[in-house]
Amino acid sequence: MSTEQTFKRITTKALGLLKKKGIKITALTAYDFITAKLLDQAGIDLILVGDSLGMVFQGNETTLPVTMDEMIYHTKAVTKAVNRSMVVVDMPFMSYQLIADEGFRNAGRIMKETNASAVKLEGGERVADTIKKISDAGIPVMGHIGLTPQSIHQFGSYRERGRDKEEADEILKDAKIIEQAGAFSIVLEKIPAALAKQVTESLTIPTIGIGAGMHCDGQILVTPDMLGLNVDFHPRFVRTYANLADECTKAFTNYINDIRKLKFPSKDESY
Ligand code: KIV
Repeated sequence: MSTEQTFKRITTKALGLLKKKGIKITALTAYDFITAKLLDQAGIDLILVGDSLGMVFQGNETTLPVTMDEMIYHTKAVTKAVNRSMVVVDMPFMSYQLIADEGFRNAGRIMKETNASAVKLEGGERVADTIKKISDAGIPVMGHIGLTPQSIHQFGSYRERGRDKEEADEILKDAKIIEQAGAFSIVLEKIPAALAKQVTESLTIPTIGIGAGMHCDGQILVTPDMLGLNVDFHPRFVRTYANLADECTKAFTNYINDIRKLKFPSKDESY
């Protein structure tokens, strides 16, 4: 079901209404102008300029090396392409963890320089003051709990979180604290579906799941993963909707062969 007729522009308020009406929120990542344009035209509700770009765009092993300047650079390209979707920007590692004031300043810089509509940051209770400070200043903040990739060295692996009761209780508590602090939505990453259901039902703000089952208010995937471009990455929560790696390889090989066989460019393709 498309939300295009209902909302000319997706805002935090629109996302809240979608939750109330029980209409699922759709979200994907983008890091460049062309992808963002295609997503916006397809009617996606939310585009995340995720710090996953550190892995799928830059080729790093984690998201940790991504800088504020890089997030701003990619977001500027994305917002230029978008008319309707809501653009949310990840705050990169160490741009908000130290003190709330620094997070506040960096969130302000992102909003001032990119034309995005909101920022996202990872963590529960320990970032609640930062979320409050940023959202009190009128900047919408999306939370992100469960598997938080910026804490990968603390977790030690990308396995799902919240499997035992203690961790599940903590995730539920963090979700409520973040909502209280002013977040307009929360990403739930790689947690059991039953826990995601419990979190979703206990909040008034929408939850967006990735590897968190069907009961979240919306779903997000990393776009290169769902397009089948990230060939070495096959977690079970990713459904591949296309096989673009194969398509690209075919196109590149045909191009190489055509040049070698003097089939490209043709007369029609010359001046
Ligand atoms: O960085 C990212 O793309 C994300 C999504 C996985 C939610 O945070």
